[in-house]
Amino acid sequence: MKRIGILTAGGDTPALNATIHGAVIRANQLKVEIVGLIKGFNCLFNPRVPHLYLNPLFQDIPELDPTKGGTLIGSSRDFVDPERRDDLDLIATRLQKLGIEGLICIGGDGTLNGLQPLAERFPVVLAPKTIDNDLGLNYPGEPNDWVRVNDASVKNGFRYKLTSHNAVFDLDHIVNYVTPGYATAVFVSASGVERIRTTAESHRRIAIIEVMGRHSGYIALGTAYGRPDIILVPEHPLDVDHLVERVKHLYDLQKNVVIVCGEGIVDEQGGELGAESKSTDPSGNVILSGAADALRSILIQMIGDRYFQLYRRSESAREAIFTRKVGHTQRGGRPILFDRFYAAQLGAEAVNLLMQGRNNAVSVLQYDSREGFHVEGYDANRFRDRWGLIHARKMHPALYDPKLMKPSRLGIDYLLPIFTDAIGEDDTAHIRQTLFAAGNLAQPYHSVNTDVNKRIRYLQTDQ
Ligand code: F6P
Repeated sequence: MKRIGILTAGGDTPALNATIHGAVIRANQLKVEIVGLIKGFNCLFNPRVPHLYLNPLFQDIPELDPTKGGTLIGSSRDFVDPERRDDLDLIATRLQKLGIEGLICIGGDGTLNGLQPLAERFPVVLAPKTIDNDLGLNYPGEPNDWVRVNDASVKNGFRYKLTSHNAVFDLDHIVNYVTPGYATAVFVSASGVERIRTTAESHRRIAIIEVMGRHSGYIALGTAYGRPDIILVPEHPLDVDHLVERVKHLYDLQKNVVIVCGEGIVDEQGGELGAESKSTDPSGNVILSGAADALRSILIQMIGDRYFQLYRRSESAREAIFTRKVGHTQRGGRPILFDRFYAAQLGAEAVNLLMQGRNNAVSVLQYDSREGFHVEGYDANRFRDRWGLIHARKMHPALYDPKLMKPSRLGIDYLLPIFTDAIGEDDTAHIRQTLFAAGNLAQPYHSVNTDVNKRIRYLQTDQ
């Protein structure tokens, strides 16, 4: 293989450039060209296929900075529909015209779902990314534990459900222990929790902080580092009575409460608290909004004004209980050391996989309690259930203690290897050197897109 294509698909993460950089460095060693495809699959639906050479003469271009969040080649939520064979054929033809012999998709579970039909046309591998940490398996046989149940209310007439887990859960058996982007998202969220705490303390308030993660509670679990009082995750339905009892106990004791909730938390009937509208993004994912606000309404109703007035701590429940979303700050900015280091290794491993002749494979980050982390290749089909679908990984319920509403002992053991040395000395030095640099006040922001634009090439085609 002399030329490889690379694209970033789906929501961005802080570690995408680090993955691209890892792939480019490996390609330089192997004397392989890497072509960046602009804005994910979007560019392959465009006859002009905007692209850029990431390592002309086997030197990485200066715009490729692994310490910068986002992706210099852009991303979109456009995806490849396996049913649209014409689109797939067109994509294969366009890649051939560019002389691309293999493709690396940096993506999540949605991208992985579309990998098989692409792999039938040309070699393609996936390097994982997602702040949600939902690309992977809690144990190798997990796809077999998904069942299909009839449900007339949804498209196709059925939905997929994870039955009880049929394997002993062991941290060493997790497939793809953690995805690049997750550590930085937790770093941002946990810092946010710490900051909200002191204002809740000062003003005797109850803060509800919503974090991302879709239907997986990993980000919420990780915010335990910011020491919230209560964490709510989508994998354990909300027990309203238990929550209210715990909130009151804590408020009596310390005059403030900090609650973290994952955006995908559900009620006891399995209804998503935050799914105010049933709208979806282009890949069909339900857009979640408002879990924290829904939770606030529940607490206002259940606790009532009198409780706060009695204590002379607030005029009303409405005044005392407030919400904040960490939002897209958890997806942007400089990646912390853990993310940069392993994202680069996973990008390099994706190049290795293609060079070894692997197709339809994923570079994964494995953990061994004696040896630590290492990367390896994993067959993409082993992520599929018996109907051929790849499901977003839910946090294993054993990582959370629903009574304490905090990580369980096992949850703590899960988090430690990721976060103990996750922040590098350069991460802290970077803040000191750059945030209050005098030039920030005088000079406008210089976007990487401005420089990348000058390098973009187009396919000359009449198609
Ligand atoms: O999948 C990553 C993610 O950040 C989710 O945690 C979140 O629900 C979603 O993307 C938000 O998407 P968008 O940026 O398109 O609003």
